[in-house]
Order: sequence, then structure tokens, then C-alpha cells
Amino acid sequence: MSDVNEREIKKLPTLRGKTVVNLFFEDSTRTRISFELAAKRLSADVINFAAKGSSVSKGESLKDTAQTLEAMGADAIVLRHSSSGSAHRLAHSGWVRSAVINAGDGSHEHPTQALLDAMTIREALVDEPIGADLSGKKVLIVGDISHSRVARSNLILLKELGATVAICGPATLVPVSLSPTGGIFYSLDEAIEEFGPDAVLMLRIQSERMEASFFPTEREYARIWGMNAQRLARLQDSSILLHPGPMNRGLEIDAASADSTKSRILEQVENGVAIRMAVLFQLLSGEKGGAE
Ligand code: CP
Repeated sequence: MSDVNEREIKKLPTLRGKTVVNLFFEDSTRTRISFELAAKRLSADVINFAAKGSSVSKGESLKDTAQTLEAMGADAIVLRHSSSGSAHRLAHSGWVRSAVINAGDGSHEHPTQALLDAMTIREALVDEPIGADLSGKKVLIVGDISHSRVARSNLILLKELGATVAICGPATLVPVSLSPTGGIFYSLDEAIEEFGPDAVLMLRIQSERMEASFFPTEREYARIWGMNAQRLARLQDSSILLHPGPMNRGLEIDAASADSTKSRILEQVENGVAIRMAVLFQLLSGEKGGAE
């Protein structure tokens, strides 16, 4: 549990006078609200922009939208967009001077999600003082790897932190280009038995990004790759279960698993506020720059 949510008075004056714009071209619950809360906890002003109901429907471009919001005084732009590379483009195009934070770009990356996942794993599995990494820990990422920006950012960060990472899913949803340190599994039962994960990160099936049928039926997917009570019981006693949300209960994860004592799903959400406070502080309290 993060200390920032434990304080009696949660608000700090650190970013008073700064303006954070949440520029969301895709739906979000956790990321948008936690960035808003993080900015407010640091006393920044927050503008929430949703593409739905805006002039984007009249054809306004990302460049014009971002420049318009910056002209109103934005210091940081938190961008969620369906196009991979959009945050990099906005940060490096010279279109805006604001700090740009990637809140999820297509199937590419979701860096603050990986940071909050790593924080949650560390809190649950590492007893050592601040500074210790995830060396020796085994993390299994399961599901729709192909469409997952969460998987890509986690593969980079968890490797950096010394964890061994394996991936698992149907062959149609696991890119052959990936070479995780812990290997690739096509059966969740085999991954649990052979890899022995300390943490299992279940991914959402991203139907909205699928133009074809990647598995026979939802029932078949849940049977072979879904987390359920029987599989949960075969994990080590100390192992934990994560999901970035939103969950498809009954598909990639059943209710018994999501609500079990192994689940750290609500801790992930809680840690999201602390991580986003840290990112905003890092970018806005000193020199500006982009975070992708
Ligand atoms: N994990 C995540 O990005 O959730 P939202 O889509 O609700 O922000």
C-alpha cells in the first residue's frame, strides 16, 4: 500500500500553478482518474479532454488539439491514443513545449502501468529495503500479448529490474518476435508447472483491436488460458495475481480468482495514484521533458 494514500492530509502544494491536461482519445477509467487525482493531490489544475464530444468529431487533428490546449496554459499533456507511436510523435514533433506523458498508445506501450505493476510486485514479494530490485523473481504474463501495450512495457521494465519474465497465450496472440528471458508457453497449466511464477499478470482480451478470430470461442479460451480457482490453487502459497483492468470476468479471469486473497488488483489501482504523482512531480517540478 502506498504511503500517499495513508496521509491524513493528502494534498501537497508542490505543483501549484501548473496545469495538467488529460488528453484521452480512447476510453479509460483507471489511468485517466488516477492521473487526475495525482495532479490534484499535487495541487495542479486539471483539464479533462475526451475526444467524444470534442471538435475531434469535426476532423480536428492531434496537433491542432494539443496546440489549442497548450495555448490555454497546459504544462503537461497526458495522452491516450489508439495509434501506436502517437505519444512519441507529440513529444518529439516540436508541436508543443509541454511535457508529454504516454497514458497508452495503441498496442505499443503503457509505461505508467508497468511502473505501478512493478511497484505492486515489489511490495508483495520483496522484503528488503527501498532500492532492492526484482532479481530472482519470476513473472508470468498471460493472454493477449499481441495487442497488449501493458505486456510490452512490462517486458522492458521487469527485465530492467532483474526479474525473469515468461509469456503465455494462444499461438495466434503471442508474437514470435518476442524473446522473454523466461521463455514462451502456449498452455497456462504448463507455464504454472514448469515456470513456477511468483507473480502472474493476466491480460485483458482486447476484442476492440481484433479484426479476426484469434481463438475458437470464449469458453475455449477460458478453459485453456483463463485463470480459475483450480489453477490459482496450484500456484505457490506466496504467489500473487495481477490484472491491469478492465477485467473480462469469466474470460481471462474468473470471479473466484479476481476476488481471491492472492489478487493484488486493487493494490495496482491504488499504486497507480502514487506512481502518477511521482511522474508528474519528476516532469513538472524541474526541467520539462517527455515520458514515453
Ligand atoms: N489499466 C488501464 O489502462 O485501465 P484503463 O483503460 O481503465 O485506464
